[in-house]
Order: sequence, then C-alpha cells, then structure tokens
Amino acid sequence: MTKHVPKVWINCAVSLDGKLAFASGRRANLSGPNDMRRVQRIRSASDAILVGVGTVIKDNPSLKVHWELLGIKPKSHRTPIRVVIDSNGRTPKGAKVMDGSAPTAIITAEQCKRAFPTFVHHASFGNGHVDIRMALEWLSTEFGVRKLMVEGGSRIITSFINEGLADRITVFVAPVLIGGITAPSLMAGADCRDEKCMVKLHLVGVKRLDDGVLLDFKRK
Ligand SMILES: NC(=O)c1ccc[n+]([C@@H]2O[C@H](COP(=O)([O-])OP(=O)(O)OC[C@H]3O[C@@H](n4cnc5c(N)ncnc54)[C@H](OP(=O)(O)O)[C@@H]3O)[C@@H](O)[C@H]2O)c1
Repeated sequence: MTKHVPKVWINCAVSLDGKLAFASGRRANLSGPNDMRRVQRIRSASDAILVGVGTVIKDNPSLKVHWELLGIKPKSHRTPIRVVIDSNGRTPKGAKVMDGSAPTAIITAEQCKRAFPTFVHHASFGNGHVDIRMALEWLSTEFGVRKLMVEGGSRIITSFINEGLADRITVFVAPVLIGGITAPSLMAGADCRDEKCMVKLHLVGVKRLDDGVLLDFKRK
C-alpha cells in the first residue's frame, strides 16, 4: 500500500548568483519586507515547517509564524509543527526550535542515541542520514501533515529535489551578488558535468517583489 506523503513547498531567498548565505554559511538577510510577509503567509498555511540541522546551527530560526508581520491575531489552531532533520542529534540545546513554545519534531537517523526533552517529538528513520521519504510518511500519519514547507538549507533542498519530493519551489532573487566559493548555493550535492544531471523545472510564475523577483517553479 502506498503511504501518504505531504505536498512539499520549498521556499528560499537567493542572491542573483544563487547563494543562500554569506561565506561559510553565515546568515544573509536577502528578503525585503514584502517577501518576509509572503514567507509568513506560506508558514501560516502550512501544517509543518522543515529545515536541516545546518540551518538550525547557522541561523537559529524560530520556525514560528510571525503573525505581527501579517497584521492579524495569532491563530492558535494554526501552529505549524517545527521539524528538524538531524541525523546525529546535533541540534543545540539552546536552539529556538527547542524552546518549547511551539510543537517541534526532531528526526534523526537510527544511529542517534541522544535523548531529547519530552516535549520534543522524536523519531528515527534511515542509517547514516535521515530517510526523508520515511520522515514525511511519519509526519503525515503521526500529525496529519498534508502541507509541508521546506525552508532550507542547501543540502536539505537538494535532497528533496533529488528524491522527487518537491511539488513547488519558490525562489526570491534579491538584487545582490555575493560571490566566492564557500557561500552555499540553492543546490548542493554532487558535481553536475553535463545536461543529463541537470534538474529541469517548469516556470509557472514571475513577479516583481521589493527590489527583487519572485520565481515560482514546478518540477518537470
Ligand atoms: N536564504 C535562504 O532562504 C536560506 C534558508 C535556509 C537556510 N539558509 C542557509 O543555508 C545554510 C545551511 O545549509 P546546509 O546545507 O549547510 O544545511 P541544511 O540543509 O540546513 O542541513 C543539512 C544537514 O541536514 C542533515 N541531514 C540529515 N539527513 C539529510 C538528508 N537526507 N539530506 C540532507 N541533509 C540531511 C545533515 O547533517 P547531519 O549529517 O549531521 O544530519 C546535513 O548536513 C546556512 O548558511 C543558512 O544560512 C538560507
């Protein structure tokens, strides 16, 4: 029997040269105010918001809906579950996602022996790295997640795209150039040397937003 997998919406902001952050992954604020509100709207309409542990370590995001940016009162029945993909349990103890202020799930690989606080939902799938498809099936059966927002970073986005799990990809392209070789790009993974390994996307929308451009893609 085929198990249910949520609809996945990847959203990120990049520089014109495709970088998600500064050198060595230092956090870059690439969104303008309208884009930030757009991100909050996607968060508020999602059942879960997912990042990789790399993003938790570099950016320490709250992964909560900032209702104040939307100008509306918090809707307590619409609190998306925060999900961290973290094979070896490297999520720092003091991370905002571990503050107990909203539901959090940390998904590790089977070798992880770390014990998490009782308010953290913890499950393990895969050896070495987290098996993302199994993690999504668990989020669906355990929490009824139907709409999943993936916010990054580079390696997590790459895994979702390579495993054919990305239903929609929106990219805000900021009018800046970052350059260098250690700044992470939208896509990581193995070197691609010819057209055969290119990931082909279908452009379904383009919009001017703040001083940048919002691109909306579906996978071909
Ligand atoms: N501009 C934006 O919109 C935006 C948004 C988010 C993040 N970022 C940036 O992205 C950067 C972080 O990206 P990142 O690539 O270093 O980290 P990441 O994608 O957030 O997390 C990657 C980590 O997740 C773990 N993982 C476990 N299972 C995995 C799987 N199946 N596939 C992929 N990863 C798996 C791995 O660590 P373990 O092996 O330890 O499990 C891996 O190193 C930061 O610089 C951040 O600022 C930018």
